[in-house]
Amino acid sequence: MNSIRLRPLSHFFLALFLTFAAVGNTTAQQGETAPVATAPAASKDGVTPGSTAAAAPAAAAGATTGDAAAISAGAALFTQNCAQCHAINDVVVGPALKDVHKRRTISWLIPWIKNSSKVVASGDEYAVKIFNQYQKQQMPSFQLSDAEITSIISYVAAESDKPSAATTGGVTKENVGDADGAGGATAANASSSTMDILLIVLVVVLLVLVVTLVIIANIMKDVLRGRKDLDGRDVEQLEQRFDLAKIYKSPVVRGLALGLFALVVLYESVQGVMAIGLTQGYQPTQPIAFSHKLHAGENQINCSYCHTSVYKSKSANIPSANICMNCHAQIKTESPEIKKIYRAIERKQPIQWVRIHNLPDLAYFNHSQHTQVGGIECQTCHGPIQNMEVVYQYSALTMGWCINCHRETPLNTKGNGYYNNLVKLHDKANGAAPFTVSSNGGTECSKCHY
Ligand code: HEC
Ligand code: HEC
Ligand code: HEC
Ligand code: HEC
Ligand code: HEC
Ligand code: HEC
Repeated sequence: MNSIRLRPLSHFFLALFLTFAAVGNTTAQQGETAPVATAPAASKDGVTPGSTAAAAPAAAAGATTGDAAAISAGAALFTQNCAQCHAINDVVVGPALKDVHKRRTISWLIPWIKNSSKVVASGDEYAVKIFNQYQKQQMPSFQLSDAEITSIISYVAAESDKPSAATTGGVTKENVGDADGAGGATAANASSSTMDILLIVLVVVLLVLVVTLVIIANIMKDVLRGRKDLDGRDVEQLEQRFDLAKIYKSPVVRGLALGLFALVVLYESVQGVMAIGLTQGYQPTQPIAFSHKLHAGENQINCSYCHTSVYKSKSANIPSANICMNCHAQIKTESPEIKKIYRAIERKQPIQWVRIHNLPDLAYFNHSQHTQVGGIECQTCHGPIQNMEVVYQYSALTMGWCINCHRETPLNTKGNGYYNNLVKLHDKANGAAPFTVSSNGGTECSKCHY
């Protein structure tokens, strides 16, 4: 008996909860599609790993659309050649490639990918339009075979057929930051509008469900009222009214409300943290597969061999292609990754490494102060770089992170005449307390903020 009465109520809350969950989900999705400003896109017009035809042994073999081997070969070729500028559903530097096989025929795509500027120059209407739409950025030419291009397109076609949320085309979301193309938002809009429709359908279905259940409950009540064998408690149960005050007092309802509130607060604070630029763990794909593990780890090349200014000046430089050439004029000259270095030098354009660590302009950080004067190891702040195939941001790089270390770290004063008197003064005033960076003023706002 009890269960008859409670059912519509519990279904009502279930419906309410699901609605909230669904609404929360769409807002989260919208949040995700917003561009993240920290990452300059991989390459606008710098070195663009073009004609690397490696990693495609299977490509030549099976090029028929839909063939699994061709798709996986296409995936490898796509990641290597295209992913820095293209994703399936998002505009990166170039357009989202979703359904490009439906927009364009393969006989248009092959010459386009081999040499897009030739197609534009020929006056092809579509080519000219898209070229202008993307601020006349030229897509590089690729020395790929017809079979390889076909396999890339098979891969794109296969990805296009997947539901949009699951496919980002192997490109980190952060890379989308540079989506300045006018057509940029369309892919995201399309997917969010299907979400909206789904949501409305869901809510309608739930409402219908609730109404049906209420009707069923009432019918059953009527049936029960007709029965003669009910005792006093049953009748009381049956005639109980929908009581708002009771619902309000119910521990279950209160628990649910509290839980919901906590979820909203959590969600908001996570969003807040994102807004102050917490990018810990950021690991973009670099234009050349340069490995610190191979160079700094296995081959034990000193950090400062490449980052030459890290002990001398404010910022640590990223090495120019010429430094790579000290070795790679001889080593691995046939590797497609190394050929990207040669091409950068030929074109007299720097390699467009994607910046990983980036403090906001309002903060002042000086490497030599920490590495040379403070004697802090790179790994304290950057983590086990010598084991990283691809560098990621190891520390939080927040103000709290800087200040905590300044509070805890004793100053490296040995052999530094500058500190002699200061240490004496400090010891006189504070006795045994260690002489930390903060006792020397390392937590004053003006030390880190201009
Ligand atoms: C350096 C960036 C860059 C790379 C790398 C790149 N593209 Fe593009 N791509 C563009 C840009 C920019 C456009 C827009 C047209 C223009 O401005 O020339 C474009 C346009 C296209 C189009 C037409 C899209 C449409 O919506 O009609 C296709 C197809 C395409 N690229 C395929 C590829 C393939 C396949 C690869 C890899 C083999 C690749 N691109 C690599 C930048 C790039
Ligand atoms: C052979 C040259 C070379 C050596 C040796 C080297 N690096 Fe690098 N480093 C690079 C290049 C090139 C990049 C940019 C590409 C990348 O991020 O992988 C880089 C990037 C970095 C970055 C990320 C920079 C950013 O964008 O924020 C850090 C941190 C770094 N290196 C630390 C180190 C440390 C610590 C060592 C020593 C253990 C070291 N590197 C040794 C060449 C080198
Ligand atoms: C001091 C010498 C030295 C310098 C400088 C150097 N490398 Fe290397 N690099 C090596 C060695 C050694 C290997 C391993 C070769 C092997 O596996 O046989 C290597 C391998 C590589 C590979 C892997 C190639 C492959 O296909 O296996 C890449 C990519 C690479 N280096 C990129 C770079 C870049 C980019 C720079 C400049 C930022 C650079 N290297 C600077 C010595 C150096
Ligand atoms: C006290 C912490 C700390 C130590 C120690 C440290 N770094 Fe950094 N590093 C940072 C911070 C913070 C940034 C971001 C700076 C910015 O955005 O202005 C950074 C950025 C970098 C960059 C990117 C270029 C730049 O200057 O912005 C490279 C490369 C780098 N560090 C290499 C090194 C190497 C190599 C060492 C060791 C010799 C080292 N770092 C030691 C905190 C540190
Ligand atoms: C791993 C510990 C550590 C971290 C993390 C760290 N610092 Fe420091 N910092 C030091 C030490 C040690 C010194 C003192 C060096 C010296 O002068 O002997 C110092 C000194 C400084 C100074 C000079 C202070 C003075 O009194 O002249 C500034 C400015 C500074 N740090 C800024 C920063 C900023 C900004 C960050 C965060 C992005 C940061 N530090 C992160 C350890 C750290
Ligand atoms: C040891 C260095 C250091 C000291 C000392 C320091 N800050 Fe910061 N501060 C930073 C860094 C680094 C950031 C950037 C953190 C980030 O992007 O999350 C920052 C960010 C900020 C921001 C901006 C936060 C935002 O949302 O962008 C404000 C405001 C600020 N600090 C105020 C202060 C005040 C006030 C003081 C003195 C009580 C102070 N800071 C002392 C390093 C420092």
